[in-house]
Amino acid sequence: MHPLTSQLTQRKAAGEKLAVLTAYDYPTARLLDEAGVDLILVGDSLGMVVLGLPDTTGVTMDMMLHHVAAVRRGVKRAPVIGDLPFESYTTPELALSNALRLVQAGADAVKLEGGVGFTEQVKAITRAGIGYVGHIGMLPQSVKIEGGYKKKGKTEEAAARLLDDALALEEAGAAAIVLESVVPEVATKISQSLQIPTIGIGAGNGCDAQVLVVHDLIGAFPWFKPPFATSHANVAQEITRATRRFVESVKGS
Ligand code: KIV
Repeated sequence: MHPLTSQLTQRKAAGEKLAVLTAYDYPTARLLDEAGVDLILVGDSLGMVVLGLPDTTGVTMDMMLHHVAAVRRGVKRAPVIGDLPFESYTTPELALSNALRLVQAGADAVKLEGGVGFTEQVKAITRAGIGYVGHIGMLPQSVKIEGGYKKKGKTEEAAARLLDDALALEEAGAAAIVLESVVPEVATKISQSLQIPTIGIGAGNGCDAQVLVVHDLIGAFPWFKPPFATSHANVAQEITRATRRFVESVKGS
């Protein structure tokens, strides 16, 4: 078993709730690590909140490698998880070689989107001794195929498929599984059915961990904020205020 899987399984068994945040750069990653976050995810949400792309499908391996390396330089304590971006894991061989590249750049584990249909990719990664985190429910990399971001697990069949996905990923060696935009009762049931922690985002309070995009937590991306995210700061307002003061001080108004 990968050390991250045993660590997270033990923490779940002890009843510990885990706080997970994304980071994409050195200073943010260092601050989050020093403030005690449990896991740091270099998510492909990078595309939207840092690079100004419309969705995550334009994120490449080169972009992920660049940002995983930056985050690694800032983090001493929390495990760092790097996202495998769109079309970087279409075969088990590709999944493994790209997972290795993320690890070489500094990731402690990699995450990829998908359930039962991706277990060969997952096994290729975990058999090579690489830490792996699953991601099921609403899958942002499928936004174009799905025609939008939709809540998952609304029917009995859909809920049963999600549970099958989660059990298959756990069996394939996942250290944890992100449940994104899953009906809360379904997310709770999945969490109760696994030994490894679930990491919820827009999936209710029954998950073992919660993850947020750091920009949503600190109010740094004012143009869009998901309804489930609570901001504890307003960094965008502070940037605007400081910039206006600087402009005024230079222009002498
Ligand atoms: O890319 C990302 O930030 C993610 C989280 C929202 C779970 O996958």
